Order: sequence, then C-alpha cells, then structure tokens
Amino acid sequence: MSVMSSFEGIFCRSAPWGMVADWVILPLIDDDYDWSGTVLELGGGAGTMADRLLRDHAEIEKLVLVDVDPAMVRSAGARLARHGDRAEVVLTDGAALPVDPGSVDVVCAWLMLHHVIEWKPLLEKAFGALRPGGRLVGYDLSRAVLGDVLHGVTRSEYLLIDPGELREELTRIGFGDVQVHSKALGQLMTFTAVRPA
Ligand SMILES: C[S@@+](CC[C@H](N)C(=O)[O-])C[C@H]1O[C@@H](n2cnc3c(N)ncnc32)[C@H](O)[C@@H]1O
Repeated sequence: MSVMSSFEGIFCRSAPWGMVADWVILPLIDDDYDWSGTVLELGGGAGTMADRLLRDHAEIEKLVLVDVDPAMVRSAGARLARHGDRAEVVLTDGAALPVDPGSVDVVCAWLMLHHVIEWKPLLEKAFGALRPGGRLVGYDLSRAVLGDVLHGVTRSEYLLIDPGELREELTRIGFGDVQVHSKALGQLMTFTAVRPA
C-alpha cells in the first residue's frame, strides 16, 4: 500500500533526496545521544536515513526499518544490503510493530508522522516498543505553509501536526524529557522524548 503520491515516492527513492538528507536534514538533527543497541525506524522509506545512521554510528547493533509501501521496502532492502546483518527491512504498517515490547533502544520517525493520519496510536506503539530509558527521535513538517504547499502539489494524503499538539500528546502517553523544537522558520520540527526508566 502506498500512502504517498508517485511523485513523492520517486523523490524519496532518488539520489537528490540523499543529498538533502546529508546537507540539510542531518545538520538539523541533534543526534548527540546514545545510539547503541537496537534502533527501530518507522516509515523508513527507501532507507536513506537508515543508511546514514548505520554509516555514522558504528555503535548501532541492529536497525529494523519498517514501511508500509512495497516499493519503498524493495529500495531500502537494496540500499541497506551493504550493512549486512546490522540492517533488517520489514514490510508492515508501523501500527503492527515486528518487535518485542520494551526491546528497542531508539525509535526513529523521520518525516513520516504527517502521512500517518492516526499518528497518536502509532506513538503509543513506539512508547511500548521502547525499553525503559529508550528514546524516540524524529523530525517532521509542522502545521505551516510549506507542508500544505508541498502536498497541494503532490496530492498525497497528509495531516500536519502542530508542535504544541505533538508535545502534549507525547507527554500524555507518558514520555519524559519531551523536547519539540521548531526549525526552518517554523516549517519543520525536530523532537525527542524518553520512556522513563
Ligand atoms: C516522506 S517518506 C519518508 C521516508 C524516510 N523516513 C526518509 O526520511 O527518507 C514517509 C514514509 O512513511 C511511510 N509510512 C507512512 N505511513 C506509514 C505507516 N502507517 N506505517 C509504516 N510506514 C508508513 C511511507 O510509506 C513513506 O515511505
């Protein structure tokens, strides 16, 4: 099942998207925390971010990428093959997580929540997948003009989230150390939150 327009899908699988990840996204994200152990990436698409995380963080033992779109999963499988057993790609809805509860050290959600219309239950699942002390990290488009313009052009289904609403929901679920930061003049937001030990 594809939740994105074909244009968005092609762009997310392209080499230019990799350049955006290297030059724009990674510098935006504060990744100065512990990546060791098992990482679960929700809606990992064609594996662009997963590839870079595995490249930059040798302490990641295993990264499990899940995505609901078969074309994305095929691309991710090909891209991540060079990482051998450190990478696993699973075709599934993020709501049916293929991991034991409380077993994951880090859950990532890069630019995917706005395509999950039911994003609150997904974040509850992420909370349940994390071990106590484990961390959720991500970034997304905020409820602002850029997201509306992009999706007006590409015509895929989306629901932009307000940073305050995300902060409230993460807190309601039970996350601690909730941080949601507006970036790029309010068009993007980064977030991290910890499942209390
Ligand atoms: C804009 S792309 C971002 C891909 C990747 N995270 C990146 O940064 O390159 C959003 C991805 O989320 C996936 N997605 C959306 N809803 C999902 C869900 N409920 N479960 C799993 N994947 C989902 C889409 O198939 C798509 O690959």
